[in-house]
Amino acid sequence: MNIPEHMLNLYDYEKASQNTLPPSANDYYRSGSMDEYTLADNMTAFQRIKFLPRVLNDVSNVITTTNLGGKTISSPLIISPTALLGMAHPEGELAVARAASAANNIMICSTMANTPIEDVTASNDSSTWFQLYVYKDKEATLTLIERAKNAGCKAIVITVDAPFLGQRERDVRNQFQLPEHLHMSNLHALGHSKLPDKVGHSGLAHYFEELINKSLTWRDISWLKQHADLPIYLKGILHPKDAQLAIEHGVDGIIVSNHGGRQLDGSIASINALPAISKAVNKQIPIILDGGIRRGSDILKALALGAQCVGIGRPVIWGLSHSGQHGVENILNILQSELKLAMALAGCANISEISADLIAEL
Ligand code: FNR
Ligand code: LAC
Repeated sequence: MNIPEHMLNLYDYEKASQNTLPPSANDYYRSGSMDEYTLADNMTAFQRIKFLPRVLNDVSNVITTTNLGGKTISSPLIISPTALLGMAHPEGELAVARAASAANNIMICSTMANTPIEDVTASNDSSTWFQLYVYKDKEATLTLIERAKNAGCKAIVITVDAPFLGQRERDVRNQFQLPEHLHMSNLHALGHSKLPDKVGHSGLAHYFEELINKSLTWRDISWLKQHADLPIYLKGILHPKDAQLAIEHGVDGIIVSNHGGRQLDGSIASINALPAISKAVNKQIPIILDGGIRRGSDILKALALGAQCVGIGRPVIWGLSHSGQHGVENILNILQSELKLAMALAGCANISEISADLIAEL
């Protein structure tokens, strides 16, 4: 592993990234919605959870390999979809895809990427999943699914927590816009690749208001599943009843997420939503958790509480803006080695030894 000495943990990358990114891009990436209570709580909720570590188990060889959706991945850590990565680095999504590949892992590529999905999958011999925003325009939505499928994506992740964009007040004040040279490449042929200009608030919020389907229901999920003919994951589940409905509608997996605190402020921290969801799902489908993962020990907590795997959003952007593909690889490596150490110190030699038994009841 080749991590620059002064870049020891994810917070070092966060600081570096905030010092170098243009202010409007930095604000877009870091923001949560409204008072940012949920954004903060995603992290503090992890701090409140305590381990009850076990001892005297042979941990001379800790293995983090696991399986997700039929693929063996190097650690239970995948890349959550984040939009507009071209503002963080000229290679944007391509650099992230290559880093995922190098780590034998999975990248979920956003609908709103600055790179066409075909180029992302071509640069990555690992697995790419496609995150879908459902447009009011049915043909546009079906075209996106078709393109993702033809490009070789292994699953479709439908984001269900964003009929409108949460209010990120920095973006409103900045009247957030994409830099001139960038557009949302997957939407080019569909005429939706630019953000509206001079709307007096966030161009992205306005784009969502105008174009994203607000009448999506469970019926549409079944319809989308038929068309996609690929495993379907729903991203943005926090309520155990919705987790149950997902199973009833034939969904292949869920992502427990509050969108990194960017949607309904005051929503539960995703890690706090996990135990009830895990109970409701009862191992019928895989659960991925994202929001606030900053240390390997956070991954161990999420797995102990019932997730198969976790996702990271902002930390990938910090690595990317610091040093492109290499920076993202470092982020993945840091988290993997922290996870290994946390597992060893908790008495777990492999992923199957992690259980709820490791978490203290407070
Ligand atoms: C996101 N997220 C997101 N989710 C999604 O389904 N589609 C998207 O295009 C985006 N775009 C996006 C941009 C940025 C800048 C951020 C920070 C987040 C949400 C993302 O997938 C994930 O749920 C959170 O980022 C997880 O929280 P952490 O890891 O950032 O704390
Ligand atoms: C965001 C959208 C694009 O959180 O998901 O900015």
